[in-house]
Amino acid sequence: MNTPIQLYLKDLERSRGDLLAEMEQEAREKEFPIIGAQCGRRLMIFAMMIGASKVFEMGSGFGYSTLWFGHAVGPLGQVTHTDGDPANTEQARKYIGRAGMSDRVRFLTGDAVALLTEDDGLYDVILIDIDKQDYPKALTAAIPKLRIGGLVLTHNATWGNRVADPNETEETTEGIREYNRGAFEHPELATFLDPVDDGLAISLKLDASVRAGLPL
Ligand SMILES: C[S@@+](CC[C@H](N)C(=O)[O-])C[C@H]1O[C@@H](n2cnc3c(N)ncnc32)[C@H](O)[C@@H]1O
Repeated sequence: MNTPIQLYLKDLERSRGDLLAEMEQEAREKEFPIIGAQCGRRLMIFAMMIGASKVFEMGSGFGYSTLWFGHAVGPLGQVTHTDGDPANTEQARKYIGRAGMSDRVRFLTGDAVALLTEDDGLYDVILIDIDKQDYPKALTAAIPKLRIGGLVLTHNATWGNRVADPNETEETTEGIREYNRGAFEHPELATFLDPVDDGLAISLKLDASVRAGLPL
């Protein structure tokens, strides 16, 4: 996506360090989908805005989004990296080690929905970036593991604008549509969808009685 506004944003966001730039280059070469710099910046800032110290990522790939969150939580925080592919986990370990953040990242390999469901932690931020047809399951797993005032941040919420195309009926698109509807209607979530850069759905967890009083 290289619309004039995308190019303008890219121009504003030039400097972000050599390691992230190296990972972006690797993603380009291997055609591996990462959140990208504009989304990484948003994830890091959102996490810092709520003073996040515990982040759980569902679908971490080779650690690009993990590194942004690592910056957000600082040396005393913890980011949980999850991926179904052990090769991605190994590569992420190397990058996170080079960033000097091994102490603040926990690596789990397996199905992120099962790993979060079995986890007994409570998180400030949960990132959803797994296979798109599984987004509704991911939301169901995420809500009880999020503290009140915590955020679910979900990538690809507009999915190349396919969510708005009535002729588009792919399982992945339907998964994201169901996710977005569920996040907007959930009685404990206040959600908005930022359409920049393939869409980021941002949901704030609230007590249901507070949510019920809002004009949502
Ligand atoms: C879009 S990539 C993640 C990119 C990463 N968030 C980033 O921006 O650096 C999606 C990753 O999720 C993994 N994945 C897909 N479904 C999964 C699942 N159910 N559980 C764990 N990992 C999954 C894939 O192996 C892939 O590495």
